[in-house]
Amino acid sequence: MIDTLVILGGDGDLTGRLLLPALAHLAADGGAIPNIRAVGRQDFDDDAYQAWAGEQLGEHAAASTEKSWDALIDGTSYRVGDVTDPAALRTALDGVDGPVVVYLALPNTIFAATLRALAEISVPEGSVVAVEKPFGVDRSDAAELNKILHRIVPETSTFRIDHFIAKRTVLNVLGLRFGNRLFEPVWNHHHVEAVEIVYDEELGLEGRAGYYDTAGALRDMLQNHLLQLLALVAMEPPQSFDALTLPARKADALRSVRTVDPVDSIRARYTAGTVGDRTLGDYAEQDGVDPERTTETYAELRLYIDNWRWTGVPFVLRTGKALGAVRKEICVRFKPVPHSPFEGPHPDPNELRLTLDTDGIALDLDLNGEGDPFDLERHTFTVEPHESTVPAYATVLRTMLAGDSSLSISDIEAEQSWRIVEDVLAAWDNNEIALQEYEAGSDGPDDRFL
Ligand code: BG6
Repeated sequence: MIDTLVILGGDGDLTGRLLLPALAHLAADGGAIPNIRAVGRQDFDDDAYQAWAGEQLGEHAAASTEKSWDALIDGTSYRVGDVTDPAALRTALDGVDGPVVVYLALPNTIFAATLRALAEISVPEGSVVAVEKPFGVDRSDAAELNKILHRIVPETSTFRIDHFIAKRTVLNVLGLRFGNRLFEPVWNHHHVEAVEIVYDEELGLEGRAGYYDTAGALRDMLQNHLLQLLALVAMEPPQSFDALTLPARKADALRSVRTVDPVDSIRARYTAGTVGDRTLGDYAEQDGVDPERTTETYAELRLYIDNWRWTGVPFVLRTGKALGAVRKEICVRFKPVPHSPFEGPHPDPNELRLTLDTDGIALDLDLNGEGDPFDLERHTFTVEPHESTVPAYATVLRTMLAGDSSLSISDIEAEQSWRIVEDVLAAWDNNEIALQEYEAGSDGPDDRFL
């Protein structure tokens, strides 16, 4: 267990909204509380930082974790510093010794400069370096970040964060596939017709224009989170779930994904409209948005995996902001039965849906119904796991502080994920694929795959 967490960007939005509440969870669950050394630009001393941390916990942490807040806050200290300056970083880390986790809770535009500064001052033996997403802005940027990271710590001590892997339903992909005999034999192109991985959000910009307008839906969500879900669905059975094996199997799956042809991509952005009882303005007119950037708030890709298991099976990945309804799920659609002895049309193909909000699993089956003994009726078997309040970030931090990188994205995965979308990014930049519009609160653009 590593007992010191150094958060670069420790006075930022991510730290306040996600990291401190997640640490409070771990502490409230009886986990050891790490000492936190926060480094940031704001002119705080330790007391002022502790007051800020208290406010953030009050605003963002679950009330059920309140008993752990004081102990967590007591263990925090703060240094003002420019994290891209080696001398300032050295001073900021003064007095911190033993293996540490250095967490870059920073805008990705300064990852490279910060990692270079870290490489120059070096970190104690056994330390872990954790980097937020998006990991770079394209493939060569990710490769450059990997190069610098490898100068600081070995690959198994790096942690490229993707909180989606630690979501309960996502971990359930592993349980379902590899904890049961039933699914693996049909988990291939002989039996699966198509896979949909969808993360439709009702949320709009939520004050994040500064970041989001430079990223867009493809870089913010699809290239990382949704491709990770694809990797877990598509990978071969791992021999174990350790830090060498799980990322390696995902990397194999991603390597097999064909670079997406731009004609298999859709991009769009929302215009003014109403989502539930909220009125959202035109994306292009929001403060902090530069309409000339043509940033998309909706991205959809059709992908193919060139290997024995998945040849010919389309995987459609899509995500969008300000949509009319939340749909967050992995849907595996099976092929129709080869022959139906029942009268009438073929039974509907079976569908397995793993839902991420709320967590659950549903399997549609056709079974004999009432009345005519040979009539079919659709039934859905559902699993609703016990309610859980453990944030995915808490699970990620727990494994990271234990020095276990099995839930990290590996260097190869990070680069492969950019390779998969690089032709699409280039075509979008060159305006070869039209940017469609959709009204906030609608189902998305008219022209789409799903
Ligand atoms: C983040 C994206 O990584 O994931 C956000 O930056 C998105 O734009 C969020 O809304 C979705 O994840 P969750 O876990 O908050 O549903």
